[in-house]
Amino acid sequence: MNKTRIALSSDHAAIDLRQAVAKHIATLGFEPVDIGPTTPESTHYPLHGKAAAELVVSGDCDLGIILCGTGQGIMMAANKVDGIRCGVCSDTFSAAMIRQHNNANMLSIGARVVGEGVALEIVDAFLKAEFEGGRHATRVDMIEG
Ligand code: RB5
Repeated sequence: MNKTRIALSSDHAAIDLRQAVAKHIATLGFEPVDIGPTTPESTHYPLHGKAAAELVVSGDCDLGIILCGTGQGIMMAANKVDGIRCGVCSDTFSAAMIRQHNNANMLSIGARVVGEGVALEIVDAFLKAEFEGGRHATRVDMIEG
């Protein structure tokens, strides 16, 4: 069986945490598709959010996890790509709910907001949860317009 492919990207503010997430999800049996960046120069989060989002909408990856300082800017950029539903999470409850109720296909995390331990628990909650469909599907369809 093919592994679930997870697109990963960040800006300079979240390189270490992104690499920790990549390692963590690989140990869980997922396939991280980490598109960087790998060097610490200041960069522009919209570029990286869009690039990861495009891997998800193209079907190359099943889900995406993106990170910047707050998680907010890169989330905004990803959500501009048609078909992306991305939420920023700083807690595990929200990380599960964005999949269960909102059918999120991307998760965003702020590396300056949560520490590595909490971030990895957020990732676990997101990856374990499943969309519930039903009335939630009606609402998600309304987001898509
Ligand atoms: C970079 O300094 C910072 O603005 C960025 O990582 C992010 O927090 C933007 O939303």
